[in-house]
Amino acid sequence: MELEEIGVAMIGTGFMGRVHVEALRRAGVRVVGICGSSPKKSRAAARQLGVEKSYDRFEQAIEDPEVNAVHIGTPNRHHCEMASRSLEAGKHVLCEKPLAMSSAESAALVELSRQYPNQATSVNYNIRFYPLCVEAQARIASQELGEVFHITGSYVQDWLLWPTDYNWRVLCEEGGDLRAIADIGTHWLDLVQSVTGLEVLEVMADLQTVHQVRERPIGEVETFQSGGQREKQSESIHVQTEDAGNILLRFNHGARGALNVSQVTAGRKNCLRFEIAGSHNSLSWNSESPNRLWIGHRDQPNQLLTRDPALMSPAAGRVADYPGGHNEGYADSFKHCFRAFYAYIANGDFEAPTTFPTFADGHREVMLCDAVLESHRCRKWVAVDGPAS
Ligand SMILES: NC(=O)c1ccc[n+]([C@@H]2O[C@H](COP(=O)([O-])OP(=O)(O)OC[C@H]3O[C@@H](n4cnc5c(N)ncnc54)[C@H](O)[C@@H]3O)[C@@H](O)[C@H]2O)c1
Repeated sequence: MELEEIGVAMIGTGFMGRVHVEALRRAGVRVVGICGSSPKKSRAAARQLGVEKSYDRFEQAIEDPEVNAVHIGTPNRHHCEMASRSLEAGKHVLCEKPLAMSSAESAALVELSRQYPNQATSVNYNIRFYPLCVEAQARIASQELGEVFHITGSYVQDWLLWPTDYNWRVLCEEGGDLRAIADIGTHWLDLVQSVTGLEVLEVMADLQTVHQVRERPIGEVETFQSGGQREKQSESIHVQTEDAGNILLRFNHGARGALNVSQVTAGRKNCLRFEIAGSHNSLSWNSESPNRLWIGHRDQPNQLLTRDPALMSPAAGRVADYPGGHNEGYADSFKHCFRAFYAYIANGDFEAPTTFPTFADGHREVMLCDAVLESHRCRKWVAVDGPAS
């Protein structure tokens, strides 16, 4: 199938709905229609984004013969059912993270996807596709760092700092029992495992709910739209999901790590950092300055590599569209993730290895979340279920 023949239905009209539609177009993929939580929202989104069709119901999207692939960008509680029904309707599926609300759901999705070997599946851990993350991966694969000793870092934001900040994610029934870890911590965990090729085997977690009561505005609130909501009428709700957490990590091959996650760190809007220490040198990257990779040396001056296709590995060059000095960022990572997914579909060899994260990767992240929650509750080290591949 040629890339131009592929049609996509977008489910969800919020933050991700807008980002996906734009990135799909930049990747050269046609967006056929869009579906929100009501016919009115679907129509408004189709109008605003210039999408041909609006679907009144999800079923219309998956039954549309012009649609070959479905993108799911709804709150987490819908992911499993929507992904299952899209697969059963014969569509390729790209689902937002986390893949499901529980590992029972994500395991069932992996199992179901095996019944449809000619349909591609992906979970959108897009951060893998920043060029300098791919560069870090290439350098580690070529043994430039030597043996990886430890991997540390954080993913911190401030948009839920105040008790008057509210989003569907704070509710277990909408987003799952874990919030900050599942929402952003799994991005970090997916990224460092993909960059190093190592797998987290065991975790020791300590979670923190800073605001056990939050004020929920009456009416719907979309992500990162907290500005005006404090003036609205609100009701107090009890919150069980964590605002922050610290996790010690044991990887295979003896590597160790530590991750700090927070959605209540004032001034940090969306900041993911990692530092990887190896026996030869170390690497550090920060999503707030994504066009720089720090390379640390013991016996010579440290280096700062600016994203530049002419200076990076071929793999990193393939996810950098602009010359050095012309910054690429968040939106570009979606474009490259989708480009990889649709090139794979267009190629038609569904047994080939993937560079994009699959449902199996998404399932492992959900199992990691289970281990984190159990560790926090039992105050002990917990092994991540299932064999490390
Ligand atoms: N990869 C990333 O960088 C990233 C960033 C943000 C969010 N996400 C993920 O994307 C998903 C959506 O998050 P968001 O921030 O866009 O949320 P959002 O609240 O901004 O948007 C969610 C949208 O889903 C729609 N919706 C709800 N129920 C629906 C239904 N039954 N059918 C169709 N549409 C429905 C809502 O109307 C809303 O438009 C979440 O799973 C989240 O974890 C990923």
